[in-house]
This record gives sequence, C-alpha cells and structure tokens, in this order.
Amino acid sequence: MNNAVGLKLGSLALDVPFFQASLSGYSDYAMRSLARRFGCPFTMADMMLAKSAANPRVLRKACFRPRADEHPVGAQIVGRIPATIAGAARDLVAAGYDVIDLNFACPAPKVLRRGRGGALLNDPDTVIDILKAARDAVACPVLMKLRIGMNHKPESMDNFWQIVTRSIENGVNALVIHGRTVSERYRYKANWDIPAAVKKRFPHATIIGSGDIFDPAATVDLMKKTGLDGFIVARGAVGNPWIFRDLRYVWENRPVPPPPGLDEQRLVILEHFEQVLKDYSERKAVGIFRKYAVGYARRHPKRKQALLALMKAKIRPEVEAAIKTWYTNSYPDAD
Ligand SMILES: Cc1cc2nc3c(=O)[nH]c(=O)nc-3n(C[C@H](O)[C@H](O)[C@H](O)COP(=O)(O)O)c2cc1C
Repeated sequence: MNNAVGLKLGSLALDVPFFQASLSGYSDYAMRSLARRFGCPFTMADMMLAKSAANPRVLRKACFRPRADEHPVGAQIVGRIPATIAGAARDLVAAGYDVIDLNFACPAPKVLRRGRGGALLNDPDTVIDILKAARDAVACPVLMKLRIGMNHKPESMDNFWQIVTRSIENGVNALVIHGRTVSERYRYKANWDIPAAVKKRFPHATIIGSGDIFDPAATVDLMKKTGLDGFIVARGAVGNPWIFRDLRYVWENRPVPPPPGLDEQRLVILEHFEQVLKDYSERKAVGIFRKYAVGYARRHPKRKQALLALMKAKIRPEVEAAIKTWYTNSYPDAD
C-alpha cells in the first residue's frame, strides 16, 4: 500500500493529490459516496449560500447533509458578508464538515448580481476580510476557490495577484484555482500557466488546479509539468466515478484496469439511482438521475439510443428497466 502523502490541506493529509470538486446541483451524497468508493479521498458538497447554510431545513437536504460514512467531506460557502460567512463556517463544522472552502469563483449571473462568488475577485479587501473571519471562526482547514480573474484586463490580473498574495499571507490552507476567468465561464481551454505561475511564486503554499480534468494520464503529466500540488475533478466525474480509480492507478504508477464493461456499469448506475431514490422523492429522483445519465451514457457503444431510453423513463420501474435493458451485453441492436 502506498501511504505517502499526496496532498496536504492544512491538517488534512490525502494519500493522492486530487479530490472531487463542488458541483452545484450534482455533488450530493450519491455522487460523493460513489467517488469515495472508487478511490477519491475527499469530496466537496454543493456550494451553500452563507446566510442559509446553517438553517436546519437546508442542512437536512440530501445534497448538503454530511453523513457519518463520508469523512473527510468539505462544505463550500458563497457569500459576501464576512460575519455571516464566519457564522456559516462555524455551523457547518458543527454539523460535521471537515473542511471549509470559500467560493470566489462562481460565474452564475444571479450570484454575480448580488456581489458574491466571482464578483469578489474585483474586491480583494472583502475577500481577505472573509478569509480572516472564516479562519478565526473554525479550527479546520480553510480553502479558497478562485478563478484567474474577472477577465484578462490588467486591473483584474492585479486584483487576482493581490488576492493570491494576501490570502497566503493570511494563512489560507490551499488555493484552488480554476484556470478560466469569470467572463469566460466554461469556454475555451483552461489556462494552467497562471496556476503554475502562482505555485512558482509561492512554492510553500498549497496550490491546486482546476479545469478540463478528463484524462487521468494527461492530468498527472500536467501536474508534474506545472509543479502544482494537486487538482480537483469536476465535470469529468459526473456519471464517471471510474475516473477516480484510474487517476489513483496512474498516480501510483500501476497499470490502469480496463474500462468497466456494461455489466459493471449497470451495477454502478443502479446503485447510484438507488441512492438518489433514498434521498429524494421518486419524481425528483428521476429528474436528478437524468443529469448523471448523460455522463454514464458516454461510455455506451450506442450512446444516443441508451441515453434516449434513460431520459424517456418517467418513473422508477421505467428507469430501472431502461438501465437493465441497455446495460447488458445483449442491449438492443448489439452487434
Ligand atoms: C454544473 C457545474 C457546477 C459547478 N458548481 C460549482 C460550485 O458549486 N462550486 C465551485 O467551486 N465550482 C463549481 N463548478 C466549477 C468546477 O468545480 C470546476 O472548477 C470547473 O468545472 C472546471 O473544471 P472541469 O473543466 O474539470 O470541469 C461547477 C461546474 C459545473 C460544470
């Protein structure tokens, strides 16, 4: 067994240098627990709004409630008022979260309009006040999720570097940097030069990269090339928990197992759907499951037909029947 430390997030040591990102609308318990089972050492829950994060009604929701069998698990907070964020951080740790991550990256218009998420990249003073308030409120590791700026204008780059420098001076445990600007949202290829430049300038800080993590071997190469401490897996993990298994094998220099066959995929997809059914009403569960079905279907030799069958299913027995029909070696029209 390989007991080496792969990534240190303050007091939390992970045995491999990656973890599952916060993905609003996706990173619920079902996704997190599958990621763990496939070798992901740490997962993040969905982003939570600071002012409602500690509300017991919110914490009862399947996506936000940390479970006893999923430690370590992190909570991500988005907000703008340092005291509110500090209160949320304290309450989320009391609720069982092991790490607090502060979101200064979200590009969603409704978040930006309220001056939260990525909008704060233009306001280094508030970012640092938020970091200090959260740091003082909790003893666990505190991370920050950033993008490489609001846009590529010089003032935006200045603000980015100011935030990086001052957050490291103020004891952030790790910076997770998504290599796109807020204006770019998810367009273009992620820029890894800027996160690499941050690591070069601050070699003792923990710098984690994000962006276009889909291919395990290319990712591990990229990490070695950039000198970054780790990376997070986001879209690449939706309907694809095997990515964590493969990343771990590549990282540990072991031959990557063959891709899962349809029988294995069927069992995992059924397990995923079953967990979603435990956490939501049947009607909601069917809708939620469809989001992951898009990812799962990518591996299917008849992707379009399999996806269509999964999408057309409206109630639990129909979804289960579609999974069982399409995820077997005798799926319709199999050659
Ligand atoms: C649907 C979706 C939801 C996301 N939600 C969050 C979020 O809540 N918090 C966050 O920090 N990043 C969020 N992200 C950004 C990802 O964590 C990640 O930084 C980004 O997708 C780049 O990585 P990738 O190209 O490997 O997907 C989200 C991305 C997507 C596609």
